[in-house]
Amino acid sequence: MSDDKLIIFDTTLRDGEQSPGASMTRDEKVRIARALERMRVDVIEAGFPIASEGDFEAVQAVASAVSDSTICGLARALDKDIDRAGEALKPAASSRIHTFIATSPIHMKMKLRMEPDQVIEQAVHAVRRARGFTDNVEFSPEDAGRSEIDFLCRVIEAVIDAGATTVNIPDTVGYNLPHQFGELIRILIERVPNSDKAVFSVHCHNDLGLAVGNSLSAVLNGARQVECTINGLGERAGNAALEEVVMTVQTRQDIFPCRTGLDTTQIVPCSRLVSGITGFAVQPNKAIVGVNAFAHESGIHQDGVLKSRETYEIMRAQDVGWSANRIVLGKHSGRNAFRTRMKDLDIEFESEEDLNKAFSRFKALADKKHEIFDEDLQSLVTESGLEAGNDWLKLVALKVCSETGEVPEATVSLWIDGDEQLSSAAGSGPVDASFKAIETLVNSHTELQLYSVNNITSGTDSQGEVTVRLQRDGHIVNGQGADTDIVIASAKAYVNALNKIIRREERAHPQLGDV
Ligand code: KIV
Ligand code: ZN
Repeated sequence: MSDDKLIIFDTTLRDGEQSPGASMTRDEKVRIARALERMRVDVIEAGFPIASEGDFEAVQAVASAVSDSTICGLARALDKDIDRAGEALKPAASSRIHTFIATSPIHMKMKLRMEPDQVIEQAVHAVRRARGFTDNVEFSPEDAGRSEIDFLCRVIEAVIDAGATTVNIPDTVGYNLPHQFGELIRILIERVPNSDKAVFSVHCHNDLGLAVGNSLSAVLNGARQVECTINGLGERAGNAALEEVVMTVQTRQDIFPCRTGLDTTQIVPCSRLVSGITGFAVQPNKAIVGVNAFAHESGIHQDGVLKSRETYEIMRAQDVGWSANRIVLGKHSGRNAFRTRMKDLDIEFESEEDLNKAFSRFKALADKKHEIFDEDLQSLVTESGLEAGNDWLKLVALKVCSETGEVPEATVSLWIDGDEQLSSAAGSGPVDASFKAIETLVNSHTELQLYSVNNITSGTDSQGEVTVRLQRDGHIVNGQGADTDIVIASAKAYVNALNKIIRREERAHPQLGDV
C-alpha cells in the first residue's frame, strides 16, 4: 500500500456557514481559521467573497491571519466572482480559487438554462481566469452526483487542460450510496485521459446520513482530498464531519492507503469553539466529539476497559483532544502565570489592555470558582473578544427575584450609548424576565430564534455558556455569554447579540446565486 497524503479541505467557514442560523462574524471566522491552522488543516475555504461585503472582508481577514494553511475562496464560474475572490485572497501566503458550475441535466436545464456545451465553455473560461490570480485552482461540477458520467468526463478533461489542479466531485444533494459514489470516482480517474494532472476531491452532503461513508468510499477509490466541516456543519443536513473522516482514516490504517497530516489532538477544542460560536450544540452521542463518545456506562464495558482499554475502545480519547479536566490556575495565580497558560493554549493578546481585561475577568471568576480549567480560560477570551470597546450596550448589573409560587422579576441596569438606564420586568422565568427588562430599554424588534445553555466544565460550580440567536429583517446573529450564574450568562449573551445587530456586523444567510 502506498502512503499517499490525504488533503483535508475544511469548509466550515463557507458551506458550514450556509447552515441556517450559523452565520459568523469576521472575527469569529478568524478565530476558527486559527484553530484549523493549529490542527494543520491543509486548505481552509474561508468564504464566498462575492456573496456580500462581509464575506469578502472575512476571506481577506482570514487570508491575512493564517499562513500555514492554504486559504480558498469560492466563486461561481463568472468573471465578477473570480475577480472578487482573487482580490480577497491577495494577502494569503498560499491561496486557491474554487470555481464551480452545475453539470447535472436538471441543474443545467432548470437552473442555468444552458446547453451542455455552453457549460463546458464557461467552466474552461472560469478556470483560465482563476489561473490569472493563482496557480492553485479547484473546479467543481456542481451536482456531479446526479450528472451523466460521459458528460462529467468531458468537463473534467477540459478543465484540467485549462489549468485546474484539483477536481472536486460534489454529491450536492446527498443522493449517492457509498458503493456507487466510490465507483464514480474510480471510473472518472480511469476514463479522464489527463486525470493524473489533478488531485481528485470529494464534497458530500449528508441528506441520507451518508456523507462520511461516501467520502471514505471515494478515498478507497482514488480521491486524495476530502471536503468536510467541523461537527458536520453545512447546508441542510450538513457536510461530511471532518473529525469522523480523519479519525476513520487514522484508526483504519490497515484499510486506507493514505494519511492526513492533522494534529488530531486539536479536534475536540476546535469542535467546542465552532459549537460555541455558532450555537449549534453537539449531540452527546456524536462520534468523536460528543461528550459520551468515550463514556462507558454499562458495568460489563467499564470492567473490560479497566482491564484493557482496547476491549471497548478503538481510539484513545486524548488522541482527539479530550483531556482529563485539569485544574490549571487558581485565585492566587498572577498575571504572568495567566499569560503563560494562555500562550500554551495558543491565545495571544493584541495589546496589554486586552490582557488586562481578560486578567481581571479571570480574577473575578476565580473569586467565584476555585478551580479554573482550560475551558474556563478559553471562555474568558471569548468574552473579552466579545466586549468591544465601542459597544453601544453594556450590562452593568442584574438583579433577579425568583421564588416558588411567585412570578419571577428582573431589574437590569444597562449602559446605552454611554448613559446608564434601569428597568424591571416580570417573566415566566428568571431568564425570560431578564430579556424582557432589557427589551423595555432597547426595543430591538428582534426575534429570539435560539437559546441554549451548556456547562463549560463539569460540576455545579461550572460556568454556563449561553448562546442566543436573534433575527431582525432577515439578518441573524449569535451572541455568547459565560458566567457561573446562568441567568447573568444569559443576559450577557443577549446583550452581546444586540450589540452585533446594532453594530451591523450581522450578515444575510449566504445564498448561492443562480449560476
Ligand atoms: O455542495 C456543493 O455542490 C457545493 C459546491 C459549491 C462545491 O458546495
Ligand atoms: Zn456543498
